[in-house]
Amino acid sequence: MTMELPEILRCPSPSRWLELCLTDLDTLLLDHAHCEKKAASTVLTFSFRAAEHELAGVLSRLAREELSHFEMVLRELERRGQRFRPLEPSAYAGRLAALTRRRPLPEAMVDSFVVAALIEARSCERLGLLANAVDDPELVGLYQSLHAAEERHHTLMLELGARFGPIDDALGRLGEAEAKLITAGEPWVRMHA
Ligand SMILES: [Fe+2]
Ligand SMILES: [Fe+2]
Repeated sequence: MTMELPEILRCPSPSRWLELCLTDLDTLLLDHAHCEKKAASTVLTFSFRAAEHELAGVLSRLAREELSHFEMVLRELERRGQRFRPLEPSAYAGRLAALTRRRPLPEAMVDSFVVAALIEARSCERLGLLANAVDDPELVGLYQSLHAAEERHHTLMLELGARFGPIDDALGRLGEAEAKLITAGEPWVRMHA
């Protein structure tokens, strides 16, 4: 599978992230299941904060798609004899969310959609790296299909954000912060460590 770094990301993932994840794919899948469920929940939050007719359908479909990803990862956990259970998340998404403007609403929505786009883009990069690195054909198939979905999602998030105002400044500021978090890394097996 050939892959390019999504354009909005300022740096590739350090190789130590992939090396660490390959030592514990079960924990990675468990964290991944939580991430997909969180993605669905975040999209629904957007539809409460900006309850506009034009967004309602697209956000509803997106939330359902993320829930279907959650179920796909759950099935893979089950196939591997693992159970879904609580797991402490990495700090990455919370640190990015803390940098978003809270008001006025248009600026808040621009920042929130830009952060969502960055997270989707990072997921896209990492799912591609995993698809190329794991041996199990079922897992390769799962990572490939989710990689394609997150590739679509990060451009969709940018389009939705741009409906609320110019996104270039937010993309610069938050993209830089994202690259710093990824370069620093976190010392545990997580999708976004
Ligand atoms: Fe997803
Ligand atoms: Fe997604």
